[in-house]
Parts: sequence; structure tokens; C-alpha cells
Amino acid sequence: MTKEKQVIETSEAQIAVHWQEEEYFHPSPTFIGQANLTDESVFERFSLDNFPDYYTEYAELLTWYKYWDEVFDASDAPCWKWFKGGLLNASYNCIDRHLKKNKNKTAIHFVPELETEPIQHITYQELYVRVNEFAALLRDYAQLKRGDRATIHMPMSAELAISMLACARLGVIHSVVFGGFSASACADRVVDSNSRVLITMDAYYRAGKLLDHKIVDDEACQISAEQGQKIDKMLIWQRYQGKISTKGPLIEGRDCIINQKLKHYYGKRIEPEKMLSEEPLFLMYTSGTTGKPKGCQHGTGGYLSYVTAMSKYIQDIHPEDVYWCMADIGWITGHSFIVYGPLALCASTVIYEGVPTYPDAGRCWRIAQDLDVNIFHTAPTAIRALRKVGPDEPAKYNYNFKHMTTVGEPIEPEVWKWYQKEVGKGKAVIVDTWWQTETGGFLCSTVPGISPMKPGSAGRGVPGIHPVIYDEDGNVLPPGSGKAGNICIKNPWPGALQTVWGNRKRFVDTYYARYCKNPDSKDWRDWPYLAGDAAVEAADGYFRILGRIDDVINVSGHRLGTKEIESAALTVLEVAEAAVVPVAHEIKGKEPDLYVALKPGFQASDEIAQRINDAICNQIGKIAKCRKVWIVPDMPKTRSGKIMRRVLGAISNHGDVGNVMTLANPEIVEEIKKMVG
Ligand code: WT7
Repeated sequence: MTKEKQVIETSEAQIAVHWQEEEYFHPSPTFIGQANLTDESVFERFSLDNFPDYYTEYAELLTWYKYWDEVFDASDAPCWKWFKGGLLNASYNCIDRHLKKNKNKTAIHFVPELETEPIQHITYQELYVRVNEFAALLRDYAQLKRGDRATIHMPMSAELAISMLACARLGVIHSVVFGGFSASACADRVVDSNSRVLITMDAYYRAGKLLDHKIVDDEACQISAEQGQKIDKMLIWQRYQGKISTKGPLIEGRDCIINQKLKHYYGKRIEPEKMLSEEPLFLMYTSGTTGKPKGCQHGTGGYLSYVTAMSKYIQDIHPEDVYWCMADIGWITGHSFIVYGPLALCASTVIYEGVPTYPDAGRCWRIAQDLDVNIFHTAPTAIRALRKVGPDEPAKYNYNFKHMTTVGEPIEPEVWKWYQKEVGKGKAVIVDTWWQTETGGFLCSTVPGISPMKPGSAGRGVPGIHPVIYDEDGNVLPPGSGKAGNICIKNPWPGALQTVWGNRKRFVDTYYARYCKNPDSKDWRDWPYLAGDAAVEAADGYFRILGRIDDVINVSGHRLGTKEIESAALTVLEVAEAAVVPVAHEIKGKEPDLYVALKPGFQASDEIAQRINDAICNQIGKIAKCRKVWIVPDMPKTRSGKIMRRVLGAISNHGDVGNVMTLANPEIVEEIKKMVG
């Protein structure tokens, strides 16, 4: 590792070192009394000696048409196959198998953002009917079949879950793109996955406004066509049944209003495809070090077994629970823990359309009270926002959480304690779940019915996951060493991505090459998974995650590639060079700060800065909006011409820039410092 990287890491680690070792919090006897997992012998059963067979316990939570021939196949290392030869269908497991006993039970509570609109309570029977009819439309009208990809670019809605489950029923690989992503980000994903069908919705509510969404996808179709991928069919759900809420024209032959077309499929039932366990269920794109997002490919049997087990044992979901995860279904958290996990367990899952603090700071707690939510799941960024706008709001409402999750970024112990005391009313257990888009489900977390919680630490590996921290040379940093290193997982697990869509080399290089001693090995022990996070392991074996080791900025719990932002900035004519650095933000955790140098002959102006930020929002989405675009006369550079992001990062965060005398242009540092203040 280069000198430069080490310095960045130390500064991340220093933030964490300021945190004291925290006291344990213990789960209440009431919680333990009803928990799904309280038997400590689970860790023994799930020890490495019993790998891979222990994972059959997870697979047995599902209903299979045919059991697997082999639990784990390593012959194509590190593209592992789980439950090989087994046959199942995800939509069957999330719907059909519950009908006999629970058809009248609510599967989905859809909560519109406007409080004047009624909440929709969709039973398992209704979900069954709607998924079947839409699957018939996908098959017979859109001509989709097993193995095809379909891109879904939709807001939070019941129809989004219905679309995913309809794809799963047919064996169509869905690729859901976060609804807030721009046309261009959506088009990139359409092109990479070769989708010829795009499923969308005309409009949705966000912060009190009805946003036209379909017009974004008109542009996405145009951009993807320019890149050689034509969308034959755009399928459009209506936010208001029977009413068109978009200004976009309906393109003859391409566009179809789903709600109208569905009439032709009334009463249709589609036999679920019997999928091989290792056939892909979906793709989910995520940012990496290089510009292009990676399509993480998740398999059917492994992924579904894993998320079902995590939902049951770590989130403690019982069929009678009302479970609310506030993430967006467009991210992995929503896939695993709004749709697949809770529905596989026959729980009632809440889908909320809008902003957590709309129209006021009490909104979340009213939803929780009205639906009697007892399991709540969100990210530190939302917790910080709720704490800021309404620290005393939770106490005003009469809800009762038994369990709460935090996910997506490190949580400050102070914020954790507010969450525990105010939101959880001192009664709910908390799990701090560390994982990634790539991992399908949790890696580290406490088991809520067994282990105590420690604010700011995720905990040990969940049953079956065996983490380890390596230093740069591959030596193990033992528990309690006080040193930060690269956290890796020693063993494969069923929830892990199978590969990067269409790019096996990138898959191996990104996640396995770093600590693999023998690339020809077929032994899983030779292939530790590199998560890409720095972490420390305390003496008690609890892991504290410090942040990314690559060029990724975690904004509000989501990964943005710095290269993606920089390339967007470079599309503005005047820009010669661009560098993005993370800057601490009270609510979002981190925010990108952008430094640019202009080509000779151009003068800095607010107008140019605005155009740069607009380009970023247009090409990626508002989530990537930079705090500030600093137009600097020159970038601080090494003698070999490398931009010193570390120096820029220190300036943005009012930190110590360190020794800059070895730079090619040390004087520029003072100048930029004055500018940023
Ligand atoms: C990155 C993964 C996992 C679903 C949401 C984000 C960071 C995630 C935690 C946590 C500290 C965390 C890591 C990880 N992260 N959970 N509990 N504590 N950091 O998925 O967009 O793939 O991001 O988020 O840096 O690598 P993602």
C-alpha cells in the first residue's frame, strides 16, 4: 500500500480511536423469552469444522421442489455454487406457500406519503393474484422468459415488490435501479444488463410534491438506445389507478400502461418456474473504485436461504410481526429486508413512499403507532436526522418496538444511545448489522437473543460467518491488538454475490485477489473475501467498522464511487481536472466535496460551479450532489503529477494537511486553504 493511502486510513482510524470502549447493553428477558434464536450452541454448530454443511439449516427454512445434490461446490473457485441441483422458486417461497394458512394476512402495508390517502393493506391472497397477473403480462405481452433481464426503475410502492416477485416467478432476472437515480444512471444499468424491458411508474410523492418519474425513463430509453441497447417495452404502473400522472407522451408500440393492460390477464395464474438454486435471482449495481458500477449477481437458493435466516435469527421476525424497514427497495437492504426476507417468513412488511420527516418530525412514529409496527430498521443517517428535527417526538406516540436495526455506516455511540433510549424507549434490542450489496445479507451483528450490544460496534460474525483482520502483508491482527486492518471473511457463505455480471475477472480481482495465495486453488480456505472496509477487532471479538479503504464515499449509508463523480464533472467543457474528497456531515455521515481546475483561458464563476453540480445530479442523481464545488487555480500534486486527494481532504475537513513540502506546488495548498476557510 502506498504512503498516501496509509495516511487516509490513519485519519479514518483516528476518528474511531476517539471513541471510548463502550459499556454493554443487555437484551431484556422479555425479548429473550420470545426470540427465535437463544441457543448459544449455534456458534458451535456453525464453526468452521462443520463448514459447509451447517448452511443446510438455513436452506431448510425454504420450500424446495427438489433438494440439492451438493451443499457446496467449489470446482469453479471463487465462483461458489450453493445447494447445487436444488430446485425452488423465490416467488413461491414468498407467497404461495403461505396461502393455505395465511391468505388473509397482510403481506404489504403500503403507506402513501400524503396522510390524507389511505394506507393499502395487501393480503397474501391479493399479492398472489397481482403477482400472477403481472407475471402473465410480462410473459405474454413483454415476451420475457427465464434468464432474461428486466430493469425496474421505480419509486417505493407495492407495485415495485409485485414487479420483482413477478419476475422471480418467471425466472426473469430483475435489476432494480434506485428510483432517485437519474436517466443516465438508469441507462448505464439497462445497457450493462442488456435489458429490453423497463418497468416504471408514472409518478410518486416526495416531500409533498408529485414528481413526474416516467419522463426520466423516456430519457433513459433514449440514452440506452444511443449506447446500443434498445428498450422494446416500457411498462408503466399508474400511481393513481385510471389516471395518467406524467407529461411524457406514450410512445406507440413501446409504452404500455400496466393497469389498463392487466385487464387482459384477469384471473391468469402462472406456474412458478422451477429454478436451479444457482440460477440468478437478480442483479444489483453498486459503486466501486473504477467508474462503472458493478452488477452484483445474486443466486436464487443461496441468497434466499441466507436472507430468510438473517431475517429470522438476527431481525427476529416472526410471522405475526409488523416489520418496517425504512430503506429504499432500490438498494440491497430493501431487496433483502423489505421484500425477500420478511415475505419468505410470512410477516407483514411496511413500504413507505416518502420522506421520513414529511410532513413533520412525528411522521415515522405515527406510522409505527397506527400499524403497530414492532420491528424497525433504518440507517444512522435517518436516525441523526430524526434526532435533529424531533428529539422528543418518539415519546409522544404509543408504539412498542421489540427490535431495531441500524445499517449502512458506522453509528456514533451518542446517536446509538439516543436511538436506544428515545426511539426504542429503552426496551428494544438493537442490532448494528455490517454487510454490503455484495454479501446479500449480514456479516457482523450481535445475535439479539444471545449477545449483549455495544454502541458503535457491529459485533462478531453472525452464525456461520468467520471474519478476520489482515494487515497489508496478510498477517492476522488478533483481537485486542488495537490496530486497524482489512476485514475479510474466511469462508464462503450462501448470500454472497456469485460474480460481477458479465465480468468474472473484475469479480475475482475486486474481492478475492488481494489475499489469495494460489489463484489455481479449488480449496475455499485459500480464498478469503475482501470486504474493502477497515476495521478493528476488540478483545471481546466485536468488530468496529471504520470505513472504506477504496475510493468510495459513503453518503447517507450508500456508496458513491469518487471516479463516477469525477467523470461526471469532467463532462463539463471547462473542467480540466477533478478530485472528490469526503467531508464530514452532521446527518449524512459523509458528503462529497469537489475540487476542479479549469482548462487554460477559462475564468472561475458560480455559473460554472453550478453547471458542474448539475452535471453530477443529472448523470448520477441528487444523492451525489456535492457540498461545494471549489474551482481552484491548480491541484496540489506530487512531483510525478498525482493529485494529492489526502491534502484536499484535510483542507475540506479542517484537518492537518501534514508535510506538503515534497509536493510539486506546495504554495497552492495555502491558497486553497484560504479559499475553503
Ligand atoms: C458499505 C456497504 C449493507 C446495506 C447498506 C449499504 C458500510 C454497512 C455498516 C455498519 C459500519 C457499515 C461499509 C460497507 N456499512 N453497514 N453497520 N457499520 N459501516 O450497502 O451500499 O453496499 O455499502 O457500507 O463501508 O462496505 P452498500
